[in-house]
Amino acid sequence: MLKVLVLGSGAGGGSPQWNCNAEVSRAVRSRQPGTSRRTQSSIAVSVDERNWFLFNASPDLGSQIQDHKQLHPDPSYGLRHSPILGTVLTNGDVDHVAGLLTLRESYPLAIYATKRVQSVLKQNAIFNVLNPKFVDRRDLLLNKKIELRTKNKKPTGLFVEPFSVPGKVALWLEDKKVGKNFGTVEEDTIALKISSKDKEEFFYYIPACANMTTDLAKKIKGSPLVLFDGTLWRDDEMIVSKVGVKTGKRMGHMSNSGSRGTIAVFKDIDVKRKVFIHINTTNPILVKGSEERKFAENSGWEVSYDGMELVL
Ligand code: MLT
Ligand code: MN
Repeated sequence: MLKVLVLGSGAGGGSPQWNCNAEVSRAVRSRQPGTSRRTQSSIAVSVDERNWFLFNASPDLGSQIQDHKQLHPDPSYGLRHSPILGTVLTNGDVDHVAGLLTLRESYPLAIYATKRVQSVLKQNAIFNVLNPKFVDRRDLLLNKKIELRTKNKKPTGLFVEPFSVPGKVALWLEDKKVGKNFGTVEEDTIALKISSKDKEEFFYYIPACANMTTDLAKKIKGSPLVLFDGTLWRDDEMIVSKVGVKTGKRMGHMSNSGSRGTIAVFKDIDVKRKVFIHINTTNPILVKGSEERKFAENSGWEVSYDGMELVL
Protein backbone atom coordinates (compact mmCIF):
# COMPACT_ATOMS: atom_id res chain seq x y z
CA MET A 1 0.00 0.00 0.00
CA LEU A 2 1.03 3.53 -0.68
CA LYS A 3 -0.94 6.27 1.00
CA VAL A 4 -0.67 9.91 0.00
CA LEU A 5 -1.94 12.69 2.19
CA VAL A 6 -2.18 16.16 0.67
CA LEU A 7 -1.04 18.47 3.45
CA GLY A 8 -0.99 21.64 1.37
CA SER A 9 -2.57 21.96 -2.07
CA GLY A 10 -1.85 25.69 -2.51
CA ALA A 11 1.13 27.36 -4.17
CA GLY A 12 3.42 29.87 -2.42
CA GLY A 13 1.28 32.13 -0.22
CA GLY A 14 -1.57 29.61 0.05
CA SER A 15 -5.21 30.51 -0.49
CA PRO A 16 -6.36 32.94 0.68
CA GLN A 17 -2.99 34.64 0.52
CA TRP A 18 -2.54 37.00 3.48
CA ASN A 19 -2.37 40.20 1.44
CA CYS A 20 -4.56 39.23 -1.52
CA ASN A 21 -7.98 40.67 -2.26
CA ALA A 22 -8.39 39.17 -5.70
CA GLU A 23 -11.50 37.13 -6.47
CA VAL A 24 -10.51 33.67 -5.27
CA SER A 25 -8.78 34.84 -2.10
CA ARG A 26 -11.84 36.92 -1.22
CA ALA A 27 -14.20 34.04 -1.95
CA VAL A 28 -12.20 31.65 0.23
CA ARG A 29 -11.85 34.21 3.02
CA SER A 30 -15.62 34.74 3.10
CA ARG A 31 -16.16 30.95 3.03
CA GLN A 32 -18.07 31.01 -0.21
CA PRO A 33 -19.58 27.54 -0.82
CA GLY A 34 -17.42 25.55 -3.24
CA THR A 35 -14.19 27.03 -1.94
CA SER A 36 -11.82 25.94 0.79
CA ARG A 37 -8.69 27.19 2.48
CA ARG A 38 -5.43 25.85 1.06
CA THR A 39 -2.13 25.80 2.83
CA GLN A 40 1.22 25.74 1.03
CA SER A 41 2.59 22.93 -1.08
CA SER A 42 3.41 19.61 0.61
CA ILE A 43 2.36 15.96 0.76
CA ALA A 44 3.04 13.14 3.21
CA VAL A 45 3.45 9.53 2.06
CA SER A 46 3.33 6.28 4.02
CA VAL A 47 3.53 2.55 3.28
CA ASP A 48 2.08 1.51 6.66
CA GLU A 49 0.01 4.52 7.82
CA ARG A 50 2.22 4.69 10.92
CA ASN A 51 5.41 6.25 9.58
CA TRP A 52 5.34 9.17 7.18
CA PHE A 53 7.83 10.91 4.95
CA LEU A 54 7.07 14.50 4.06
CA PHE A 55 7.64 15.68 0.53
CA ASN A 56 8.54 19.34 0.86
CA ALA A 57 8.26 21.25 4.11
CA SER A 58 5.93 24.20 3.77
CA PRO A 59 5.84 27.32 5.94
CA ASP A 60 2.44 26.00 7.08
CA LEU A 61 3.87 22.71 8.33
CA GLY A 62 3.02 23.47 11.98
CA SER A 63 -0.69 23.81 11.26
CA GLN A 64 -0.61 20.97 8.74
CA ILE A 65 0.66 18.65 11.49
CA GLN A 66 -2.05 19.90 13.87
CA ASP A 67 -4.69 19.29 11.22
CA HIS A 68 -3.71 15.67 10.50
CA LYS A 69 -3.91 13.22 13.37
CA GLN A 70 -1.76 10.77 11.40
CA LEU A 71 1.15 13.13 12.09
CA HIS A 72 0.60 13.54 15.83
CA PRO A 73 2.98 12.02 18.38
CA ASP A 74 1.97 8.54 19.53
CA PRO A 75 1.77 8.59 23.35
CA SER A 76 2.86 4.94 23.58
CA TYR A 77 6.39 6.09 22.64
CA GLY A 78 6.70 8.37 25.67
CA LEU A 79 7.28 12.08 25.90
CA ARG A 80 8.93 12.63 22.53
CA HIS A 81 7.70 11.09 19.29
CA SER A 82 6.71 11.93 15.77
CA PRO A 83 5.51 9.66 12.95
CA ILE A 84 7.50 11.96 10.62
CA LEU A 85 10.74 10.28 9.53
CA GLY A 86 12.06 13.09 7.39
CA THR A 87 11.44 15.06 4.25
CA VAL A 88 12.35 15.01 0.58
CA LEU A 89 12.67 18.41 -1.12
CA THR A 90 11.87 19.02 -4.79
CA ASN A 91 13.35 22.52 -4.95
CA GLY A 92 14.62 25.34 -2.73
CA ASP A 93 11.51 27.55 -2.95
CA VAL A 94 10.32 29.20 0.24
CA ASP A 95 7.04 27.27 0.09
CA HIS A 96 9.01 24.01 0.06
CA VAL A 97 11.79 24.61 2.59
CA ALA A 98 10.65 27.16 5.18
CA GLY A 99 8.85 24.40 7.11
CA LEU A 100 12.22 22.83 7.90
CA LEU A 101 12.45 25.42 10.66
CA THR A 102 9.33 23.91 12.21
CA LEU A 103 11.16 20.57 12.40
CA ARG A 104 13.75 21.83 14.91
CA GLU A 105 13.62 20.58 18.53
CA SER A 106 16.21 17.82 18.28
CA TYR A 107 14.33 14.96 16.73
CA PRO A 108 15.92 12.30 14.49
CA LEU A 109 15.11 13.08 10.87
CA ALA A 110 16.56 12.58 7.40
CA ILE A 111 16.41 15.40 4.86
CA TYR A 112 16.87 14.43 1.22
CA ALA A 113 17.55 16.96 -1.55
CA THR A 114 19.83 17.41 -4.55
CA LYS A 115 23.37 18.59 -3.84
CA ARG A 116 22.42 21.97 -5.23
CA VAL A 117 19.48 22.44 -2.83
CA GLN A 118 21.50 21.02 0.08
CA SER A 119 24.22 23.59 -0.61
CA VAL A 120 21.68 26.39 -0.57
CA LEU A 121 20.40 25.21 2.82
CA LYS A 122 23.96 24.93 4.08
CA GLN A 123 24.70 28.51 3.10
CA ASN A 124 21.76 29.68 5.18
CA ALA A 125 22.87 29.49 8.78
CA ILE A 126 19.30 29.65 10.10
CA PHE A 127 18.85 26.02 9.04
CA ASN A 128 21.48 25.09 11.62
CA VAL A 129 18.56 25.01 14.04
CA LEU A 130 18.22 21.51 12.65
CA ASN A 131 20.72 20.06 15.05
CA PRO A 132 23.15 17.96 12.95
CA LYS A 133 23.42 15.46 15.80
CA PHE A 134 19.82 14.57 15.13
CA VAL A 135 19.14 15.60 11.55
CA ASP A 136 20.94 13.94 8.63
CA ARG A 137 21.12 15.79 5.33
CA ARG A 138 21.43 13.39 2.40
CA ASP A 139 22.12 14.07 -1.26
CA LEU A 140 19.76 12.83 -3.92
CA LEU A 141 21.42 11.82 -7.17
CA LEU A 142 19.43 12.42 -10.32
CA ASN A 143 18.02 9.28 -11.96
CA LYS A 144 19.07 7.03 -9.12
CA LYS A 145 16.33 5.14 -7.31
CA ILE A 146 16.96 4.84 -3.59
CA GLU A 147 15.14 3.56 -0.56
CA LEU A 148 14.46 6.29 1.97
CA ARG A 149 16.00 5.51 5.34
CA THR A 150 15.37 6.83 8.80
CA LYS A 151 18.00 8.93 10.57
CA ASN A 152 19.26 5.65 12.07
CA LYS A 153 19.51 4.12 8.58
CA LYS A 154 16.55 1.82 8.99
CA PRO A 155 14.94 1.02 5.60
CA THR A 156 11.42 2.42 5.28
CA GLY A 157 9.98 0.44 2.35
CA LEU A 158 9.49 3.74 0.55
CA PHE A 159 11.53 4.44 -2.59
CA VAL A 160 12.17 7.59 -4.59
CA GLU A 161 13.64 8.15 -8.03
CA PRO A 162 14.48 11.82 -8.57
CA PHE A 163 14.82 13.32 -12.02
CA SER A 164 15.22 16.81 -13.34
CA VAL A 165 12.31 18.68 -14.95
CA PRO A 166 12.27 22.08 -16.66
CA GLY A 167 12.04 24.72 -13.97
CA LYS A 168 13.72 27.68 -12.38
CA VAL A 169 16.06 28.41 -9.52
CA ALA A 170 14.22 29.53 -6.36
CA LEU A 171 12.94 33.10 -6.58
CA TRP A 172 15.16 34.23 -3.71
CA LEU A 173 18.27 32.89 -5.48
CA GLU A 174 17.64 34.44 -8.89
CA ASP A 175 20.73 36.14 -10.26
CA LYS A 176 20.58 37.86 -13.64
CA LYS A 177 24.36 37.91 -13.81
CA VAL A 178 24.92 34.18 -13.82
CA GLY A 179 23.46 33.28 -17.16
CA LYS A 180 20.32 31.93 -18.69
CA ASN A 181 17.13 31.62 -16.64
CA PHE A 182 18.71 33.43 -13.65
CA GLY A 183 21.38 30.80 -13.18
CA THR A 184 19.03 27.81 -13.10
CA VAL A 185 20.74 24.41 -13.19
CA GLU A 186 19.43 20.87 -13.65
CA GLU A 187 19.25 20.11 -9.93
CA ASP A 188 17.10 23.14 -9.09
CA THR A 189 13.76 21.51 -9.88
CA ILE A 190 13.18 17.81 -9.58
CA ALA A 191 10.23 15.49 -9.94
CA LEU A 192 9.94 12.23 -8.03
CA LYS A 193 8.74 8.77 -8.82
CA ILE A 194 7.63 7.53 -5.40
CA SER A 195 7.15 3.80 -4.93
CA SER A 196 6.60 1.12 -2.33
CA LYS A 197 8.83 -1.88 -1.84
CA ASP A 198 6.29 -4.64 -1.37
CA LYS A 199 3.83 -4.30 -4.19
CA GLU A 200 5.74 -1.70 -6.16
CA GLU A 201 2.84 0.71 -6.25
CA PHE A 202 4.02 4.04 -7.60
CA PHE A 203 3.04 7.55 -8.55
CA TYR A 204 4.71 10.75 -9.71
CA TYR A 205 4.97 13.94 -7.68
CA ILE A 206 5.71 16.96 -9.88
CA PRO A 207 4.73 20.15 -8.02
CA ALA A 208 6.72 22.44 -10.34
CA CYS A 209 7.29 21.99 -14.05
CA ALA A 210 7.87 24.64 -16.71
CA ASN A 211 7.38 22.51 -19.77
CA MET A 212 6.33 19.03 -20.90
CA THR A 213 9.29 17.35 -22.55
CA THR A 214 9.29 14.17 -24.62
CA ASP A 215 11.33 12.50 -21.88
CA LEU A 216 8.89 13.46 -19.14
CA ALA A 217 5.89 12.35 -21.20
CA LYS A 218 7.58 8.99 -21.81
CA LYS A 219 8.36 8.56 -18.13
CA ILE A 220 4.88 9.19 -16.77
CA LYS A 221 3.06 7.25 -19.53
CA GLY A 222 1.05 4.38 -18.07
CA SER A 223 1.23 5.78 -14.56
CA PRO A 224 -1.69 5.20 -12.16
CA LEU A 225 -1.37 8.66 -10.61
CA VAL A 226 0.40 11.95 -11.28
CA LEU A 227 0.27 14.93 -8.93
CA PHE A 228 1.18 17.84 -11.19
CA ASP A 229 1.96 21.56 -11.05
CA GLY A 230 -1.40 23.35 -11.15
CA THR A 231 -0.12 26.85 -10.35
CA LEU A 232 -1.94 28.99 -12.91
CA TRP A 233 -4.90 28.57 -15.22
CA ARG A 234 -3.40 30.95 -17.80
CA ASP A 235 0.11 32.27 -18.24
CA ASP A 236 -0.79 35.95 -17.75
CA GLU A 237 -3.20 35.28 -14.87
CA MET A 238 -1.36 37.38 -12.29
CA ILE A 239 -1.23 40.29 -14.73
CA VAL A 240 -4.91 40.16 -15.76
CA SER A 241 -5.91 39.72 -12.11
CA LYS A 242 -3.86 42.88 -11.46
CA VAL A 243 -1.98 41.29 -8.58
CA GLY A 244 1.44 40.87 -10.18
CA VAL A 245 3.63 41.48 -13.18
CA LYS A 246 5.01 38.00 -13.77
CA THR A 247 3.84 35.34 -16.15
CA GLY A 248 3.72 31.66 -15.20
CA LYS A 249 6.58 30.99 -17.62
CA ARG A 250 8.69 33.59 -15.87
CA MET A 251 8.06 31.77 -12.59
CA GLY A 252 8.88 28.33 -14.01
CA HIS A 253 5.35 26.97 -14.25
CA MET A 254 3.38 25.73 -17.25
CA SER A 255 -0.29 26.74 -17.25
CA ASN A 256 -3.34 24.48 -16.99
CA SER A 257 -5.04 25.90 -20.12
CA GLY A 258 -3.93 26.80 -23.63
CA SER A 259 -2.87 24.76 -26.62
CA ARG A 260 0.44 23.83 -24.99
CA GLY A 261 -0.90 23.88 -21.46
CA THR A 262 -1.03 20.95 -19.07
CA ILE A 263 -4.58 19.81 -19.84
CA ALA A 264 -3.85 19.80 -23.58
CA VAL A 265 -0.50 18.02 -23.45
CA PHE A 266 -1.73 15.32 -21.06
CA LYS A 267 -4.45 14.38 -23.60
CA ASP A 268 -1.84 12.32 -25.44
CA ILE A 269 -0.31 10.77 -22.31
CA ASP A 270 -1.95 7.74 -20.77
CA VAL A 271 -2.20 8.55 -17.04
CA LYS A 272 -5.02 7.04 -15.00
CA ARG A 273 -5.47 9.68 -12.32
CA LYS A 274 -4.37 13.28 -12.90
CA VAL A 275 -4.41 15.65 -9.95
CA PHE A 276 -3.47 19.33 -9.84
CA ILE A 277 -1.43 20.42 -6.84
CA HIS A 278 0.51 23.62 -5.93
CA ILE A 279 -2.38 25.81 -7.10
CA ASN A 280 -2.08 29.58 -6.88
CA THR A 281 -4.78 31.64 -5.19
CA THR A 282 -5.51 33.44 -8.48
CA ASN A 283 -6.46 30.21 -10.24
CA PRO A 284 -10.22 29.97 -10.97
CA ILE A 285 -10.14 26.14 -10.79
CA LEU A 286 -10.12 26.66 -7.03
CA VAL A 287 -13.81 27.57 -7.20
CA LYS A 288 -16.11 24.57 -7.61
CA GLY A 289 -18.56 25.20 -10.45
CA SER A 290 -16.40 27.76 -12.28
CA GLU A 291 -16.12 27.30 -16.05
CA GLU A 292 -12.42 26.59 -15.67
CA ARG A 293 -12.99 23.97 -12.97
CA LYS A 294 -15.66 22.29 -15.11
CA PHE A 295 -13.30 22.27 -18.06
CA ALA A 296 -10.51 20.72 -15.99
CA GLU A 297 -12.84 18.08 -14.54
CA ASN A 298 -14.39 17.26 -17.90
CA SER A 299 -10.85 16.76 -19.19
CA GLY A 300 -10.20 14.15 -16.50
CA TRP A 301 -8.40 16.32 -13.94
CA GLU A 302 -8.99 16.48 -10.20
CA VAL A 303 -8.21 19.52 -8.10
CA SER A 304 -6.46 18.48 -4.91
CA TYR A 305 -7.49 19.95 -1.56
CA ASP A 306 -5.92 20.00 1.89
CA GLY A 307 -6.64 16.70 3.60
CA MET A 308 -7.17 14.77 0.34
CA GLU A 309 -6.11 11.15 0.68
CA LEU A 310 -5.03 9.01 -2.23
CA VAL A 311 -4.39 5.29 -1.96
CA LEU A 312 -2.48 3.06 -4.33
C1 MLT B 1 6.99 29.26 -7.11
O1 MLT B 1 6.45 28.16 -7.02
O2 MLT B 1 7.07 29.84 -8.20
C2 MLT B 1 7.60 29.86 -5.89
O3 MLT B 1 7.23 29.13 -4.77
C3 MLT B 1 7.28 31.30 -5.79
C4 MLT B 1 7.69 31.86 -4.47
O4 MLT B 1 8.81 31.60 -3.99
O5 MLT B 1 6.87 32.60 -3.90
MN1 MN C 1 6.06 27.27 -5.14
